[in-house]
Amino acid sequence: MTPNLLILGGTTEATALAKTVADAGLRGIVSFAGRVDRPVRQPLPQRIGGFGGVAGLMSFLKDQSITHVVDATHPFAAQMSRHAVAATKALDLPLVALTRPAWVPQTGDIWHSVADIAGAVEALQRPAARVMLAVGRMHLAAFAPNPQHFYLLRLVDPPKTALPLPRTEVLVSRGPFREAEDSALMQHHRIEIVVSKNAGGTGAYAKIAAARALKLPVIMIDRPALPDRMEVATPKAVLRWLAHTCTDLGV
Ligand SMILES: NC(=O)c1ccc[n+]([C@@H]2O[C@H](COP(=O)([O-])OP(=O)(O)OC[C@H]3O[C@@H](n4cnc5c(N)ncnc54)[C@H](OP(=O)(O)O)[C@@H]3O)[C@@H](O)[C@H]2O)c1
Repeated sequence: MTPNLLILGGTTEATALAKTVADAGLRGIVSFAGRVDRPVRQPLPQRIGGFGGVAGLMSFLKDQSITHVVDATHPFAAQMSRHAVAATKALDLPLVALTRPAWVPQTGDIWHSVADIAGAVEALQRPAARVMLAVGRMHLAAFAPNPQHFYLLRLVDPPKTALPLPRTEVLVSRGPFREAEDSALMQHHRIEIVVSKNAGGTGAYAKIAAARALKLPVIMIDRPALPDRMEVATPKAVLRWLAHTCTDLGV
């Protein structure tokens, strides 16, 4: 039996891994939640949409004869990651997470760390300011209790419904972003506060570096807690893990 991977995707890391896996001539499927209109094209077969909870994921793993699961989702996609741990445990399948280290504050950073989205909303309970809100479309409604601010939003797709915030400007753009461009953007919009998830990695770091250079405060949302699992940092390390587990499993 040859290995057959399920890569839980939606990140640049997952796309890089799909390329590494395809280049190595291995079998695999990349899965997307279906949150964006045009997911980045993958060099492996892809599927789109939720599995239907842990039970649905288990059925998918069995139906597709998946031998290994790689969780390469975004660090804030906690539910999917929890489901991956539960389903692979139940089926006794090997799981690894392809992760990126969290950002840590550097000299000059003015971070106000909060535990979650609700913490960021609370931190914005203050007089009107010009805010760059880089948290993704799914969480915008949470900020409705603070309509006094101007919000600069950067979204992957144009919004299809009315935004839950009265004073916004929307930029439709997909990363990676550059510090010089984000700095120019912040100055152009006279941004006073940046709100960001602690995504880690390089693609979204530009706004953090730009905020540091412009001496702007950042409301930094900590990562959600995840269950224990094996983690690696690079696609190559995933292949090494695969080789080890295949030997162990006799795959
Ligand atoms: N959260 C972020 O800030 C962020 C940023 C960039 C990219 N993304 C990507 O966007 C996707 C959704 O993020 P989220 O925060 O909404 O996730 P989430 O809260 O952890 O997941 C909610 C549900 O969406 C489905 N789902 C999530 N990722 C999936 C995948 N790769 N393939 C198939 N189904 C998936 C699952 O549905 P079922 O229970 O029905 O299986 C899951 O229970 C993730 O794949 C993530 O990598 C997220």
